Amino acid sequence: MLINDVTVLVAVVTSMLGESPLYGVNPCCVVRLLPSRQTTASCGIQAITPRAPADPSTAIVGGVPANPHSWPWAAQLKIQDYHFCGATLIHPEWVLTAAHCISEGYSSEIQVHLGSHWMNEIDFGKEQQIGVGSVVQHEFYDSTTLENDIAMLKLAEPATSTDYVNIACLPDSTTYYNPGTEGVVVGWGEDNGTSVDNTVLNQVVVPVIDVDICNNTQTMNGTIEDGMFCAGYAEGGKDSCQGDSGGPYQVLRGDGAWELYGVVSWGFGCAEPNSPGVYTHVPTYIDWIYENIAASSNVNVPSLLMLSVMIVWQFW
Ligand SMILES: *[C@@H]1O[C@H](CO)[C@@H](O)[C@H](O)[C@H]1NC(C)=O
Ligand SMILES: *[C@@H]1O[C@H](CO)[C@@H](O)[C@H](O)[C@H]1NC(C)=O
Ligand SMILES: *[C@@H]1O[C@H](CO)[C@@H](O)[C@H](O)[C@H]1NC(C)=O
Repeated sequence: MLINDVTVLVAVVTSMLGESPLYGVNPCCVVRLLPSRQTTASCGIQAITPRAPADPSTAIVGGVPANPHSWPWAAQLKIQDYHFCGATLIHPEWVLTAAHCISEGYSSEIQVHLGSHWMNEIDFGKEQQIGVGSVVQHEFYDSTTLENDIAMLKLAEPATSTDYVNIACLPDSTTYYNPGTEGVVVGWGEDNGTSVDNTVLNQVVVPVIDVDICNNTQTMNGTIEDGMFCAGYAEGGKDSCQGDSGGPYQVLRGDGAWELYGVVSWGFGCAEPNSPGVYTHVPTYIDWIYENIAASSNVNVPSLLMLSVMIVWQFW
């Protein structure tokens, strides 16, 4: 595999210095608890209408700036105010991202920015900046083949649902979109000079590509594994790129809600012909996602039981 040519779509953290002021954090923390599986219609709906996905193109290669806050589950991961990856809010306390975005040692420094539009500025009154409580990187993530390129970050405190911050819908384990299905990728990553404004969230439409075509010798030459899918155009020109990693590939469902189908993972270059973007296939990992959410929320049950036993014992 041409591993040296692989563009792992993470921006290099070049600046580890500088202040990390606290701003834009909404102190309120009243969030409705979700059932263990998403069953309500509140996911995947925007208060602010997105730009029509079919808009002709003008960081994301070949995309257009998004309407501000029209993708309210799109999150930025920053260290010391430096954007390095995207993520998606899937639960009031969890964002989903790519495993390759998470390196040992830095997880406690990661700040998740929700309700953001500008890459390097704070959208006052709209943006929520929340630290990371814990990180779950997929136990079988392979940094050579990029198999199982998926990770979850538990927020240090729940996000607040607003017009600017909402969760994306999650697919079922059996969800499958046929080749040609158009998904929207959003991100703050590199645009290779194609966007009129790449300092804000950009969006691009890329269709799902048949996995056998994507895996053939003329295209990705046997590097596509189970749990990945490809999206893009044979002629290139539109793609995700460095800094978009971890961000959402989302499909509009029949019921009008947006569903997270992929996580931006890797590619050879960006938007080159016969070199589509490769995404982690979220339905493959959906049970893993729910198991991690459940395991984390159950952690305190025994200690709470123990505490109540102790309190009862003390008063008895
Ligand atoms: C495709 O992969 C095979 C096996 O890894 C390798 O020998 C071949 O050179 C590759 N072809 C191209 C066009 O990269
Ligand atoms: C892609 O091709 C490789 C090499 O032939 C194969 O091992 C792998 O299973 C294929 N991937 C998929 C998803 O079929
Ligand atoms: C950027 O654009 C140039 C010219 O349009 C192209 O040659 C190059 O391959 C592109 N680079 C990436 C990383 O897409």
